[in-house]
Amino acid sequence: MNILSVAAEIYPLVKTGGLADVTGSLPKALKSYGIQTHSIVPGYPGVMEALGETSPIARYDSLFGEPATIVAGQAAGLDLFVLDAPGFFNRPGGPYTDGHGHDFPDNWKRFAAFAFAASQIAHGLIPNWRPDIIHAHDWHSALSLVYLKFSSRPAIPRILTVHNLAFQGQFAAHHFSELGLPDEAYSIDGVEYYGDIGYLKGGLQAADVITVVSPTYAREIMTPAFGMGLEGLMNARHDDIVGIVNGIDMEVWDPSTDPHIDHHYSARTPMRRLLNRCALLDLVGLPNTSGPVFASVNRLTWQKGMDLLAGTADEIVAGGGKLIVLGQGEPDIEHAFMEVARRFPQSVAVKIGYDEPLAHRIHAGADAMLVPSRFEPCGLTQLYALRYGCVPIVARTGGLSETIIDANEAALHAHAATGIQFSPGDASGLRHALRRAFKLFRRHRVWERLRRQGMKTDCSWHRSAATYAELYEEVLATDIRLAG
Ligand code: ADP
Ligand code: GLC
Repeated sequence: MNILSVAAEIYPLVKTGGLADVTGSLPKALKSYGIQTHSIVPGYPGVMEALGETSPIARYDSLFGEPATIVAGQAAGLDLFVLDAPGFFNRPGGPYTDGHGHDFPDNWKRFAAFAFAASQIAHGLIPNWRPDIIHAHDWHSALSLVYLKFSSRPAIPRILTVHNLAFQGQFAAHHFSELGLPDEAYSIDGVEYYGDIGYLKGGLQAADVITVVSPTYAREIMTPAFGMGLEGLMNARHDDIVGIVNGIDMEVWDPSTDPHIDHHYSARTPMRRLLNRCALLDLVGLPNTSGPVFASVNRLTWQKGMDLLAGTADEIVAGGGKLIVLGQGEPDIEHAFMEVARRFPQSVAVKIGYDEPLAHRIHAGADAMLVPSRFEPCGLTQLYALRYGCVPIVARTGGLSETIIDANEAALHAHAATGIQFSPGDASGLRHALRRAFKLFRRHRVWERLRRQGMKTDCSWHRSAATYAELYEEVLATDIRLAG
């Protein structure tokens, strides 16, 4: 079976968050089910560099006003189609923002062009290659399904995965005439969204099946608190929504081989892990004392509850703990953390920025990973923490609530606990969780068991890849039945 995966990010070529981790690792996991995935991604500089010499397999003199080609190649074990449109994608800054963190003003056009090219591949643009299913991810790719839905050409099944409903790709209605969609697409069944254009909204209407990245999030998005204005649509499409929890790439995140860490270890060699703890404290300039080392590797945003963490850092310091934060995001939260680090130079280290090797070293060296999200569709950092023996402390929401087993006395007794959950997801909840962590940390054997149990947890794609494979089979079978 051939899948066309459409995504704006793919690890290790371009990444701003978990989306890339998923689109980069799921194709590999699906191979053992006889599923071949080709991923189309925008030709950002890093992607073009990784591809090396290529020759075009399709050419546009003008795609939404820019010359473009589609090139095929392989990189990092992934089969890729790349939309090489330098006018759109060869720019300084990130995939969506300029060097100052501002959205590119022509994002509506960049990702319409990308989605349109993907829809043409789904229609058979590439010689000798045809997908059986198109699988788009998030708003950047969602319009590809809309182009297919409103096309008169034969259709293939359309799947949309929502990684985060908060990012919707909403643009002014006057762009509609430039999208090349028929008039009827500006409607409730198409891209019309509160008088604007909604790319994600259009994709949600155009998809045959919608997946979200955990079963809990699938339930949450039916409610106003988590639906981000789309809860009505979500309820209307209730029967077509499936929650499938993410897995992790067990090779990229493996403490026994990780090239980014100084000392390799496994669940059986906890003493070697301690060496990474020393190395980490040394690296970030904190003294090596016996209290717990808390860490957070995260976007510094309201969603992630990082303002709550900055506000409760005093609890960690007062208890004799350390805090290491790696992240970037909202300026207010960045400043709040820098201020905390300035106030407590012996206890708090903050690195503002994006640093993949440091992220690995933090998971390998810290005692506990804090994930105080206000909402979390799935979350990957807590899964990496489990695998690295860094006890996750998470808010009880979305994927966090179903991937971590809380260390209450019953779960500890049953040797099932893998971390700490807290609710409500506010400052008082977080403070309470920190106090519980200090207490557990003092019970050395209990903490050690908690850590080991986490390391034993299967966070691989094993189960979820099988679920995606079944889903693909099912949508194909339904499609054949309907066509017949
Ligand atoms: P989200 O995609 O919502 O940001 P996830 O937990 O799903 O959250 O995935 C985040 C991914 O990005 C993880 O791989 C995490 O390690 C990584 N990450 C986040 N912030 C940073 C950072 N500042 N430096 C390095 N890696 C980061
Ligand atoms: C989004 C979500 C995160 C999820 C990731 C990968 O960025 O915020 O919870 O883990 O996508 O699906």
